[in-house]
Amino acid sequence: MTNTEEKSPGPATEAAALAHLARAEIEAAHIPALDGVSPMPVKAAAVIGAGAMGAGIATCFAAAGLPVTLIDLTPENIERGLAAVRANFDGAVEKGKMSGDQRARAGALVSGATDYASLGGADLVVEAVFENLALKKSIFAEIDRAARPTAILATNTSYLDIDAIAAATARPDKVLGLHFFNPAHVMKLLEVVRGAETSVETLATAMDVARRMRKTAVVAKVCFGFIGNRMLNAYRTEALNIALEGASIAVIDKAVRAFGMPMGPFALMDLTGLDVNVKMRAEADSSRIDARAFRIVDRLHALGRAGQKSGAGFYRYGAGSRSPAFDPEVDAMIAQEAGLVSRRADIAAEEIADRCILALVNEGAHILEEGVALRAGDIDVAYVAGYGFPRALGGPMFWAEQQGLCAVAARIGRYRASSGEGRWRPSPLLETAAAKGISFDAARRAPGP
Ligand code: 3HC
Repeated sequence: MTNTEEKSPGPATEAAALAHLARAEIEAAHIPALDGVSPMPVKAAAVIGAGAMGAGIATCFAAAGLPVTLIDLTPENIERGLAAVRANFDGAVEKGKMSGDQRARAGALVSGATDYASLGGADLVVEAVFENLALKKSIFAEIDRAARPTAILATNTSYLDIDAIAAATARPDKVLGLHFFNPAHVMKLLEVVRGAETSVETLATAMDVARRMRKTAVVAKVCFGFIGNRMLNAYRTEALNIALEGASIAVIDKAVRAFGMPMGPFALMDLTGLDVNVKMRAEADSSRIDARAFRIVDRLHALGRAGQKSGAGFYRYGAGSRSPAFDPEVDAMIAQEAGLVSRRADIAAEEIADRCILALVNEGAHILEEGVALRAGDIDVAYVAGYGFPRALGGPMFWAEQQGLCAVAARIGRYRASSGEGRWRPSPLLETAAAKGISFDAARRAPGP
């Protein structure tokens, strides 16, 4: 779904936003702790799990000239994964991003295997199986035994505790998160998640591999969802609550696209998979989840509607199509759920977009305050490179600062008062910045009140 409704922010604001992002991208690549630290050589990689993410990650390695082995349990899974890699390369050739020769060279770098014995040659292993902590821990214990002692072991987990995964190995210093974004061969962001024991050499190597893959790396600390998905969870929660108040999912998606996002929150859930969201929530700390809001996701999933991959989720998809077709049954199901909560008829498109984007901003401010992200600019870079937040608006934190943090805090206060629920837990950092008339970063550096 392309965005044809994007509003221009005006040339001066756009120029300032682009200059901000250019600066923030340079800063995001600079991690003070890595000054003088050399990366370790990475000459070959392996990816565990040949699903959509695993295939996308293998595509990135091969496109960067790294031999990569895709490992899964059955030859059928591997063949499906390799076919997805081939399709990614075909798309790149069709769009003129790769020549036929480059495609042939990259294609020859990808192989498949069904056992961990083939890990022996890899300097970097990325696990990309579904979100289940026990499963990931057992895989890490096994790959720790099979991989060479110097190899770095990375997890593509979206939300899980990387320190717990690292503890299943005898090399926690060589374990970290390498979190790719869907579609993995397209989205530029690579969230590099540093565990409590991740060494600086491991981190430096991950940053170097990101550079070789032409990814935009942003370093995060371990927490539920890290930077990107923790904010995404707040944004989805708000979108679901707006739907429960009576707005159609098509209207919500349209309002968010009109703001400038490439797709709305419901079409995005269909892209990333309702099954992925169900599994994530089954593992998550319940205090992080608005169970009532996500009940509709469970209902759709129970009907076999897993999103694009199954031909239906919040929307319906024709065979082989990625174009969402509105399905009134889903709005009807949400209306039925909403019988449990208060209803409101018309919610203006501006309010819908504002609530979704401010949910991102408020959670971003919590993340910054907790030190999960180093700088507000890192959050902006992550949201532009990972989720297609419009570059012309500079990222959610920059956008909020342009709005005036005082006005932003006031709007959050109003949404909190009218929602009557705990989900608008205002960020103290945002409140401080608003009260003192300073930026997010300045508020973080400022001494307490
Ligand atoms: N699966 C695989 N590839 C896909 C895809 C899908 N479902 N949808 C699109 N693509 C690929 C296309 O094949 C094309 O690849 P190519 O350039 O190599 O040929 C490329 O994406 C661009 O597609 P389109 O030409 O159709 O262009 P659009 O302008 O419609 O863009 C989009 C599609 C890139 C998906 C854009 O809508 C977008 O940026 N959406 C936001 C995506 C996002 O937010 N991702 C993050 C999700 S959260 C996440 O991944 C976290 C994880 O933990 C779950």
